[in-house]
Amino acid sequence: MGTALTRDLARLCQEKEQAADHGAYAQHFHLMPPVGWLNDPNGLSQFKGLYHAYFQYSPFDAEGGAKCWGLQTSTDMLRWDYQGCALYPDQPADVSGVYSGSALVQGDELHIFYTGNVKLEDQDGYDYVHTGREANTVHTVTKDGLHFGPKHVVMRNADYPSDDTCHVRDPKVWQEGDGFYMVQGARRSDDVGEILVFHSVDLDHWKLVNRLTTPDPFGFMWECPDYFVLEDEEGTKHQILSCSPQGLNDGAWARRNIYQSGFFPIEGDIRSSVSFGSFALWDAGFDFYAPQTFQADDGRRILIGWMGMPDTPSVTNLTLADGWQHCFTLPREVVFADGAVRQRPIRELDAHRIDKLEGQGSFVDMGTPCFDCEIANGNRPFTVSIAHELKLAWDGKVFSMRFEDPAKDSVGAGRTLRYEELPELSQARIVCDISSVEVFLNDGALTFSTRFYPKQHSFIVDAAPEVTTSFWTLDL
Ligand code: FRU
Repeated sequence: MGTALTRDLARLCQEKEQAADHGAYAQHFHLMPPVGWLNDPNGLSQFKGLYHAYFQYSPFDAEGGAKCWGLQTSTDMLRWDYQGCALYPDQPADVSGVYSGSALVQGDELHIFYTGNVKLEDQDGYDYVHTGREANTVHTVTKDGLHFGPKHVVMRNADYPSDDTCHVRDPKVWQEGDGFYMVQGARRSDDVGEILVFHSVDLDHWKLVNRLTTPDPFGFMWECPDYFVLEDEEGTKHQILSCSPQGLNDGAWARRNIYQSGFFPIEGDIRSSVSFGSFALWDAGFDFYAPQTFQADDGRRILIGWMGMPDTPSVTNLTLADGWQHCFTLPREVVFADGAVRQRPIRELDAHRIDKLEGQGSFVDMGTPCFDCEIANGNRPFTVSIAHELKLAWDGKVFSMRFEDPAKDSVGAGRTLRYEELPELSQARIVCDISSVEVFLNDGALTFSTRFYPKQHSFIVDAAPEVTTSFWTLDL
């Protein structure tokens, strides 16, 4: 399907992709765009056996431009094959961007729901919050992941609550019991973020069944909502409501990223009424936003985040010089174990650990860019230095991730300090790709992710003699 515009966009996109050269900071096992800009993970699914990861993609502008959906597929979620640009903003209903959304496997079809963003031409002094923007919920179907049937608008602004602004987006759809459910993120007119819950029996007609927000306002907009249930070792079910709130800037939020991504443990029935537990960050590092989860065929709940952060001019990405920007996090298995929600690197990574090195107390490796490392510290303080610039430290109270040089062209490219209070720490896992570091603490109960741009690779642990470091090169 498509118009003359679709065909021209596809040709121009392919020309851009063919001319691309990723340069020195290209990742080895993290999904990155073939060229240009990448943001949110979209339509994550396992379809016909193959993992599908769509991504917010602006092939024509590495600083973000017309948003399309690119598609990458994989058999192991570590080695991704770019398949092409799957959805272009080529219809009146999505002319300002094929914004984020999700996928639902139904037999041999993949149903995609996304937000068709429309910014009307500014003739009447639109503010683009209360006026001047359409948020169309679009449904389209594919049998091969890449070629789509017609785009049907299943909801428009008039179908959302009248006290919401024009900011309603990012449908996440799942099947349950008597049909299908969808959550969408929204900004209320009184600048309170919320989640809308819809129900459908046929995927085309949707009815609003509930609106979810915290008793006290928690930011002005909740982007990229997600809902899923984790079952613990005893078979107890835990409901998780995930979102990316914007507008949390006071108090402890002031020292964190401009926008957050995290989850509320909830109790009750999302169709009628729920109580909210306290919000926990998915990741406390510099580069993590807009995660999405899906359930793999083997039952695992997999989470992938965008390893980037919008609206942060103080930070840059040195890949811009090579015409691309941003990547996804490592896919993470989300579990509820030992009383906490934990994120663990997908187990597929374990098969790529080679050349194990071990150290007691201090440990030094020079020159390995892609590695996986476990530090068993048994509650003893330690510091890690990566590429001589990135310092990870636990002092018995606080875990910190610090770049020593705050300059925009340094290894941290403008990143400075992120930290969280952590009274107990017994184990850390650090996974490094060419230009990213992901840290999983206490079996993934707390994580820190960042991009970085090392000139030389080095990894040094400084710790008491009782602390053990196990270090593997990754053959990816
Ligand atoms: C989150 C987000 C989504 C939106 C998309 C547009 O990063 O703002 O809410 O759909 O990016 O690219």
